[in-house]
Amino acid sequence: MKKNGLLVKNAPELVTCSGSKPKQGKDMMDIHVIEDGAVVIEEGIIKAVGKTEEILGRFNEKDYDVIDATGKAVLPGFVDSHTHLVFGGYRAEEFSWRLRGDSYMEIMERGGGIVNTVKATREATTEELLEVGLNRLDSMLSFGVTTVEGKSGYGLDLETEIKQLKVMEELDKIHPLDIVKTFMGAHATPVEYKGRTEEYVDFLINEIMPQIAEQNLAEFSDVFCEKNVFSIEQTRRIQEKAKELGLKIKLHADEIVQFGGAELAAELGAVSADHLLQVSDKGIEDMAKAGVVATLLPCTAFSLKESFAPGRKMIDMGCAVALATDFNPGSCFCESIPLVFALATLQMGIRVEEAITALTINAAAALDRAHEIGSIDQGKKGDILILEFPSYKFIPYHIGVSTVDKVIKNGKIVFDKKKGGRIC
Ligand code: NIG
Ligand code: FE
Repeated sequence: MKKNGLLVKNAPELVTCSGSKPKQGKDMMDIHVIEDGAVVIEEGIIKAVGKTEEILGRFNEKDYDVIDATGKAVLPGFVDSHTHLVFGGYRAEEFSWRLRGDSYMEIMERGGGIVNTVKATREATTEELLEVGLNRLDSMLSFGVTTVEGKSGYGLDLETEIKQLKVMEELDKIHPLDIVKTFMGAHATPVEYKGRTEEYVDFLINEIMPQIAEQNLAEFSDVFCEKNVFSIEQTRRIQEKAKELGLKIKLHADEIVQFGGAELAAELGAVSADHLLQVSDKGIEDMAKAGVVATLLPCTAFSLKESFAPGRKMIDMGCAVALATDFNPGSCFCESIPLVFALATLQMGIRVEEAITALTINAAAALDRAHEIGSIDQGKKGDILILEFPSYKFIPYHIGVSTVDKVIKNGKIVFDKKKGGRIC
């Protein structure tokens, strides 16, 4: 008999992260735990949430596929709101140079870094990019990610930027994870424009961005706003154009030096400003006031051997903080959510409840999707995680190891650890 949907019952902790807006400052502690909780999902959408007793009084178990979550905490699916997941080639050799002491910017300035990946991505076929993309998405799913953002920016020409975004579009169709696409043509100046960044900015604005918008290939526009990459003025020009074209704004801001990126993000009405290792107090205040989500990427700081972003201070000053991996081939070849948790909680002074908010409802807000994902609330997508352990407190406690037993996406079980991984 065809069932009405899925019913998960007896969860010792059902962590709902309830809400449809980013949580700022001390509200990040409110993760809303229902003890002995249950959730009903019909046609991919959450129909009801509550105590098991109450839910079983309203819904007949026989009409549903039932998961008994006795001994297992239930949470919203994680949202990885900042990645560069589609790229050709790898940079393991450069990483070994960084281990011997060369800095990320030194390698970039002598012609390595992003432009190396640009060459490999231009040479890669769509099929090759799809194949590596699928493997990467499977790995993310195993860590409990149900929505991921992906940026272009390894093409830096019209053809390859479009190729990257179309690969993401296709991955979104063939893999259970949802992908949110960001155009990042202003990731570096390509070799053919070396020494002519201003002309490259004109090319982006006049030739590439209108095409991206016309073909509806991206929802966000991002810029690597950094000393010796794209200036504040160049970033402003690109992002004003993006807004004109209907794209929403993100920024790689204040990563290597303090540059006024966070202040600019607030001025532009950006949805998020990301990295922020060197953010100023004024930048933090501006983001808190303007409601810009401050997205912190601790695995990147760790991989670059830099100090972490002042996450504790940002929360204390009232920001909505999100956490993400920044998975990419250079500064952070790492898609590990357990490592994000470990660094955020053990190294940045972020509490476990705040870290959960940062990877669910606030990460959803960083993608302008807090109304449809990021919490277990009636009417939202049925994206939920079942852990192997009875409490969310096991997530950072099991250091660096995934605690995810099952992942449910749009009401369907798509990952089961005991069955060896992705099952649909
Ligand atoms: O977010 N900071 C700039 N962009 C990426 C790194 C990209 C790369 O090195 O390939 C980042 O860290
Ligand atoms: Fe990035």
